[in-house]
Amino acid sequence: MSGDARPTEGRRTIDTTVAHSARVHDYWLGGKDNFAADRAAGDAVMEAYPGIVMSVRANRAFLARAVRFLATEAGIRQFLDIGTGIPAANNTHEVAQSVASDGRVVYVDYDPVVLTHARALLTSSTPGTIDYVDADLRDPQAILRHAARTLDFSRPVAVMLIAVMHLIVDQDDPYGLVGQLLDAVPVGSYLALSQVASDIQAEQMAEAAKRYNRLARETQRHRDRAEVARFFDGLDLVEPGVVPVQQWRPASELEARTRSAMWGGVARKP
Ligand SMILES: C[S@@+](CC[C@H](N)C(=O)[O-])C[C@H]1O[C@@H](n2cnc3c(N)ncnc32)[C@H](O)[C@@H]1O
Repeated sequence: MSGDARPTEGRRTIDTTVAHSARVHDYWLGGKDNFAADRAAGDAVMEAYPGIVMSVRANRAFLARAVRFLATEAGIRQFLDIGTGIPAANNTHEVAQSVASDGRVVYVDYDPVVLTHARALLTSSTPGTIDYVDADLRDPQAILRHAARTLDFSRPVAVMLIAVMHLIVDQDDPYGLVGQLLDAVPVGSYLALSQVASDIQAEQMAEAAKRYNRLARETQRHRDRAEVARFFDGLDLVEPGVVPVQQWRPASELEARTRSAMWGGVARKP
């Protein structure tokens, strides 16, 4: 643990009256850190797209497989996981440190509920290995500044943007934000990214986005495969490229046969 979870802006209070993505996601994953407003938004999406629970589970499995690939085949020891979410099965540090106990992870999120979980994690982890930054992805320079307490930016880093870019609307320059993060990491670093699709189950997903956006604090911007692939421009995609998350190096036939409405990929900075 390299320090306390420090906010980069005014500390926010937990607003239970409107749905927040971290808590809605927790609801879909069967967690307990959610309120009536989150469950209402989660149910509204589920009515439009009944596959949502399978989709978020497939995305968590993608996260675990991507981290395992990065820690084993790619030899990565440093992870910058932005849009961490409320802890669930196979969190990044658990997978990374099960492969290499010297793995370092910096988590970043802007949700006050995620922050409370981070505090507990930091007090129970090995000093210097895990840190948490309470910051907004739309301010990448603040994230990089704080992450440098724990990560050595002269050595490769895996930037993890798992199920978070669909919460960054076009006006906030999503490609520019990812570019700033990748500019800060050396050759041999990686980007692992997944995002909600607009072109898988397109009609259901459009209705799901409409319902979510009516009820939640953040606006969702679903993207098609070409728009997701653009996040990897200038990088070398590892096989099989940008695919539905369950098709990214599935560990079993069963895993490959699940369904999701999420695109995902992993790429190396050349
Ligand atoms: C759908 S959850 C994904 C959690 C986890 N990465 C996963 O895939 O299971 C999205 C997370 O991103 C966080 N998030 C959304 N917009 C953010 C922003 N602008 N800055 C930091 N975190 C953000 C939310 O608070 C939430 O915890």
